[in-house]
Amino acid sequence: MNTFKRYTITAALPYANGPLHIGHIAGAYLPADTYVRFLRLRGEDVVFICGSDEHGVAITIGSKKEGATPRQFVDKYHQLMKKAFQDFDISFDIYSRTSNPVHYETAQEFFTTIYNKGLLNEETSDQYYDEQEGIFLADRYIIGTCPNCGHPNAYGDQCEKCGTSLSPRQLINPRSTVSGKTPVLRPTKHWYFPLDKFENWLKEWLIEGHKNDWKTNVYGQCKSWLDQGLQPRSITRDLEWGIPVPLPEGKGKVLYVWFDAPIGYISATKELRPNDWQKYWKDPETRLIHFIGKDNIVFHCIIFPSMLKATGDFILPDNVPANEFLNLEGDKISTSRNHAVWLHEYLEDFPGRRDELRYVLNSIAPETKDADFTWKDYQQKVNSELVSILGNFVNRVMVLTWKYFEGKVPSEHELPGTDDRRTKILAVYHQAHADLNVSVNEMIQALQGFRFREAQFQMMNMARIGNKFLAETEPWKLAKEDMEAVGSILNYALTIVGNIGMACEPFLPEAAASIRRQLNAEALRESWKKFWHKEELIQAVPQYHQLGKPELLYKNVEDSEIEKQVEKLKKPKMEVIASENPVKPLKPEIVYDDFAKLDIRVGTVLTAERMEKSDKLLKLTVDTGIDKRTVLSGIAKHYTPEEITGKQVTLIVNLAPRKMMGIESQGMILMAEDRDGKLKLVLPSDEVKPGSTVS
Ligand code: MF3
Ligand code: ZN
Repeated sequence: MNTFKRYTITAALPYANGPLHIGHIAGAYLPADTYVRFLRLRGEDVVFICGSDEHGVAITIGSKKEGATPRQFVDKYHQLMKKAFQDFDISFDIYSRTSNPVHYETAQEFFTTIYNKGLLNEETSDQYYDEQEGIFLADRYIIGTCPNCGHPNAYGDQCEKCGTSLSPRQLINPRSTVSGKTPVLRPTKHWYFPLDKFENWLKEWLIEGHKNDWKTNVYGQCKSWLDQGLQPRSITRDLEWGIPVPLPEGKGKVLYVWFDAPIGYISATKELRPNDWQKYWKDPETRLIHFIGKDNIVFHCIIFPSMLKATGDFILPDNVPANEFLNLEGDKISTSRNHAVWLHEYLEDFPGRRDELRYVLNSIAPETKDADFTWKDYQQKVNSELVSILGNFVNRVMVLTWKYFEGKVPSEHELPGTDDRRTKILAVYHQAHADLNVSVNEMIQALQGFRFREAQFQMMNMARIGNKFLAETEPWKLAKEDMEAVGSILNYALTIVGNIGMACEPFLPEAAASIRRQLNAEALRESWKKFWHKEELIQAVPQYHQLGKPELLYKNVEDSEIEKQVEKLKKPKMEVIASENPVKPLKPEIVYDDFAKLDIRVGTVLTAERMEKSDKLLKLTVDTGIDKRTVLSGIAKHYTPEEITGKQVTLIVNLAPRKMMGIESQGMILMAEDRDGKLKLVLPSDEVKPGSTVS
């Protein structure tokens, strides 16, 4: 670790499309902040970089939903996130944004450099185009029936029902979510980054080179990507919002968000250090570390490094300690269902209690597997660890020192003599000292290895050892007989308090500040730095030093506070499902004549059978009152052939016939679809004669 001269630490640029929640914090920002605070305490030269990711389809869709322009939309969320990070005291050196001009330039320069090296392939292919809106549709803008499970509202990149990843052309009955219209295929040109050409290099650099120092969850994901073989990836999109492709033929096209966003780390560094940013990105003596969540692994471990390599003179990430996901009360965190603890709301509901959230999130950090946050556990960890162990220890030592020594650090007596009691005190002290040094050492090892859970546990262990030391020496019982012993015990107890004040700073900055106030130690801070290099206990406060007044570090979390939070999680979930989460967007308005063109009838199903090779289609023969015809209907998951035979159905009889799986369907059965994609027949309230019209 000491072979590096400086550090560039990045935390994933969050999308400016919604507020931050505890999953974001536990995934990337808290571990990054903890690590950076540790580095700064060691006196390292470090830049801590973050900012808002303001491009991409998530942003354009989000802005449409809110009826805002993308610019208004990102402005709003950028401010919100920036403030929440600040209020939570995540100590970025810069929180920038990818809509900044310097970022536009930097990202375009990257593209141009790679382009000029002849590395990009141009390719024209057919993509879905919305003729009414006059735009090419990004995958997420297209919905249709999932070829795998028959879900009628699968997205062009993924079916959220069965999880299959899709490409838009696999959708049956594709529709544009913008206009509701059926899109057409149109040729369009894009530029492809030849990831395949970097495969061998990646195998050497990553698979061979980082086998032992990267986390297994990260390494494993990369390996499986590389084992499957890499394909060229398109790095441009047909969108209006984004960074224009810097080529004359690129008019109307923008850089793909995952191309521009990671370059944002570099642009932000330029903004922070306009004169010497290069040394943070180009000097091999700089150590680059990306803190991210697991959904970002390929981009940071495979694609971005290849981009850096392609341009030639950049350093590569030395480690990417990605975390798994955090769940909430046993369920996935979900923005759309509002199943989340929002950072800005936490800060409002629990003012001044940042350490508490940091502590709990760190102690359950999803470092090796997904973890679960519950309010009960939050309360338990705050009350029985922060309050009872750490807060209690610091307070007892302070109060006793004021009681017996008027707040002055007592002198440290050697405790000579053969007195049994003193012998025992000495033995207890030696044991405590040895144990504390082990904890300090392990804490620092763990911090260096990105094992923040373990590191924080060792820090807390110092307070456990402190409590044990007091319990075993019982200074309050000695006050009458042996004040020298009391002084020695408290002198050492204050050393422990001071060293905890140093050790807790990366994890609990507020406790650290309070301990400094209580010990009146602001002026001693410089000398405390050596703690981080010696990796063992140091003298914290000299004898006769005047202490500050005792403060309570933490207070208990009450049942009522927790209950309120649990209630809050239940309520809005329902409201949001009802209001903000419609299954389908409203289609454009039509006139009566459009409706009158439909010939809708009630018919009777005469026969029904499953179709080979399709688990969703049933082949029906329907008596329409006019004729008997064959109708294919995507209801096999909802009705068995037996159930539907003999039933009345409502169908459109003048729809142009369509061939599906080799059979012509002559009509369409009307179905009601609920939010979960379940289908039910639409029927008159009582039986009517076949051929009855619907109008
Ligand atoms: N915005 C992305 C997300 O939230 C992360 C982008 S990280 C960067 O998943 F490297 F691209 F900036
Ligand atoms: Zn599906």
